[in-house]
Amino acid sequence: MSLNNSPAWKRLTRLAAPSIETRLPEWLTTTDRFERFSFRVGHLLVDLSKQRINQEILDTLFELTAERDIQARINDLFSGSPVNFTEGRPALHAALRAPRSDRPARVAQDIEETTHRILGFADAVRSGGWCGHSGKTLTNIVHIGIGGSHLGPELAVQALQSAASPRLTINFVANVDDGVLQNAVAGLDPDRTLFVIASKSFTTLETRLNAERARSWFLERVNVSEAMARHFVAVTANVEAAAEFGIPATNVYPLRDWVGGRYSVWSAVGLPVALAVGGQGFSELLAGAQTVDAHFASAPAPENVPLLLALAGIWNNNFLGVANHVILPYSDRLKLLPSFLQQLEMESNGKHVNHAGDDVGVHTAPIIWGGEGTNGQHAFHQLLHQGTRSFTADFVLIANSQAAGTDHDRWLLANGIAQSQAMMSGQTDPDPHREVTGEHATTTIVMDSLTPHSLGALLAIYEHKVFCQGVIWDINSFDQYGVELGKRLARPIFDQLAGRPALGQDASTRGLIESIRKGEPND
Ligand code: F6P
Repeated sequence: MSLNNSPAWKRLTRLAAPSIETRLPEWLTTTDRFERFSFRVGHLLVDLSKQRINQEILDTLFELTAERDIQARINDLFSGSPVNFTEGRPALHAALRAPRSDRPARVAQDIEETTHRILGFADAVRSGGWCGHSGKTLTNIVHIGIGGSHLGPELAVQALQSAASPRLTINFVANVDDGVLQNAVAGLDPDRTLFVIASKSFTTLETRLNAERARSWFLERVNVSEAMARHFVAVTANVEAAAEFGIPATNVYPLRDWVGGRYSVWSAVGLPVALAVGGQGFSELLAGAQTVDAHFASAPAPENVPLLLALAGIWNNNFLGVANHVILPYSDRLKLLPSFLQQLEMESNGKHVNHAGDDVGVHTAPIIWGGEGTNGQHAFHQLLHQGTRSFTADFVLIANSQAAGTDHDRWLLANGIAQSQAMMSGQTDPDPHREVTGEHATTTIVMDSLTPHSLGALLAIYEHKVFCQGVIWDINSFDQYGVELGKRLARPIFDQLAGRPALGQDASTRGLIESIRKGEPND
C-alpha cells in the first residue's frame, strides 16, 4: 500500500485542515501545555509545546509509526541489519559509542582497537609524547576532509572550544578553493604541524588535491620525505591509497564501510575533536550520544525524543505543507550546527524513491538552513516574520553557558525565546506594514550546558530523528547517489577549461567555459 493511502496517513490528512484553522497562540492557552509537550533526555530539554500538535494528532502519528513497524526498524539499526539497503550495509554509528557488551560482535573488537588508538594518539600529541621529526612538539593541526569527513569534527571542535587545549590550533580545510589551504598553513612552522587527511574513500577530489598541496608545502620546507611519518596521518577505509600517498599504515586510522560519512564524527574521523578536548573529552562525547541511543532504543513512543522530533517534522512537512526548516542555535559556538544538520538531513533524506524503487509519493526532507542567533535576527529573520514563505524552526539554547548570569548571556537567551514567541504570536497592527502574522511552529531545545556529553546527545538526537523519518518515508537514509552526477560532469568541463574544445556541451555550459577562458591571462 502506498504511504499516502495508509489509514493513519489518511486520518492525519483529515486532521490537518482543522489544525490550521486554530490560531497557534490558542494552542498554548492550556496551563499544562508545556508539561505535556516538553520532554527530557539526559541534559537536554526538548519543548514541542509551540508545535501545532495535540494528543489526537500525536496518537495518530504513533499509529503511522506502528504501520511502518518502527520499533523493528530501530532494532535493525542497532543490531547491524543492512539498513543501508541499496549498498547492502549496516549503519553502525551507534555501535561506535555503545558499551562494549552492546556492540554487534563482528565489529566490537575493531571499534575497541581503533578507539583506543585514536585516543592514545590524541593524548600523545597533546602531551608531547608524539613529536615532529625534529623533536619539536606539535602545536598546529591542519585537518583536510570534506562533507562528513569535515562538518562534524569542525562543529565539535568549535562547540567545545572552552574545553580544548589552548596549546593546539586546529584549522580545517575542506573546499578545493586554493585560498583555504593557503590560509590554513600561512605562518605555520612545518616542524610543529600535523596534517590529518580524513577521507573514507581517499579518492574525493577536493581532499586529494588539498592533501597533495599540503604534502608539497611540507616537503618543500622540510625536504626529508621520511619526516612525513611524524606529520601526516590518515583516517580512511582505503589504506592502500593512503600508503600510495605516503602515509605509513601505522599512521592510518581505519574508517569502516558500516559508518556513513555524515554519521562518522564518533569514529576516527573525530580525531581532531580528541586532539582538541583529549581522550577523556572525546569519551564523554561518545557517552552523551550513548545516553540518547539507550533512550531511543527503549523509550516508548510517547516519550521517545528523537521519534517525537521526527514526527513533528513529518506533521509539518507532509500534512501542514511546510517545506523549510530553519536551525537557529543561540550560541556562537554552535554556529556550524546548521551546516552539519544540512548535510545530515538533506544528504540522508533528500530522496525520491522508496525501498522498492517506486516514487515515494509524498515530500521527503525539507530544505534545511539557518544561522546563529542573534546575528540572523539582523539579516534573514525579517523574511521569517513578514515574508510569504512558511517554515518551522528549531531553536537551540544553552541554559548555563560560560557566561551564565551575565547580561550578555541573558540577552542571548531572551532573544532566542522572544524569537520563538514572535514566530508563534506575531503582532496585529492597523498598519499592514507593521503587522507580523506569526503562526510558525517551532521547537526549542535547551541544553543544560555545552559540554562534550551534551553535544554528543544533541547530535545523536538529530541522527535518530533523521533515521525515523527515513523509515516513515521508506527511503534509504544512508546512501547519496545524487552527489555523483556533479562529480562526473565536472571532469570534461575541467578539461575544457584547460583548453580542450568544449564539444558536446549545451549552449550555456559552452558559453560559460568559453567566456571564462577568454578572461584567462595570456601565457
Ligand atoms: O560527495 C558526498 C560525500 O560522499 C559525502 O557523503 C561524504 O561525507 C563526503 O563526500 C566525503 O567523502 P570521503 O570521506 O570519502 O572523502
